[in-house]
Amino acid sequence: MLKTRIAVLVSGGGTNLQALIDAQKAGTLHSGEIVLVVSGVEGAYALTRAENVGIPTAVCSRKVLGSQEAFEATICRELDAAGAELIVLAGFMSILSADFTKKYENRIINIHPSLIPSFCGQGFYGLRVHEAALDYGVKVTGATVHFVNEIPDGGKIILQKAVEVQPGDTPEVLQRRVMEQAEWVLLPQAAELVSAEIAAGKGE
Ligand code: GRF
Repeated sequence: MLKTRIAVLVSGGGTNLQALIDAQKAGTLHSGEIVLVVSGVEGAYALTRAENVGIPTAVCSRKVLGSQEAFEATICRELDAAGAELIVLAGFMSILSADFTKKYENRIINIHPSLIPSFCGQGFYGLRVHEAALDYGVKVTGATVHFVNEIPDGGKIILQKAVEVQPGDTPEVLQRRVMEQAEWVLLPQAAELVSAEIAAGKGE
């Protein structure tokens, strides 16, 4: 069966990208293949992780490109040139317009570090998500992989995994536990699931 061509969009350290690379190496991600990594930020360490294993990279910075239109057009060109069929947002910090998400309907997935619909949507990113969970006093949080549509964190849920909050947790400690126990497990699983579906469709 032809593998689904995956593009991963990143902005930061790329530990979720690393989890995808490791899963590909281990064979647990086998229905898809990472063919491109696009960073929204120049010099992001995620780019080094890709280069280390020979995955082609591109940088598309909203700041440098000046407008949302130019930014998205550049990303689209990169995706088209790579023949990308599935887009994985792995810590990608730039907003994508409704035009963009419509163009790739059911073809973009994102990892969010909470159990949606808690602590998600506009303004809930990075450490803020975990600060909000601790402020609220929830005893269980986790991560969610979902399809991306025009509503922030509003697309159909693909997979979720719960993580316990421990007494004395700081946002940083909780963030790390959610990554280790949920994000790095869930994102490769979801990428495999969706890749397998797309690949099966191609075989028909
Ligand atoms: C993760 O917490 C992810 O859930 C969020 O951004 C962070 C990315 O970290 N969307 P990394 O770049 O994958 O290390």
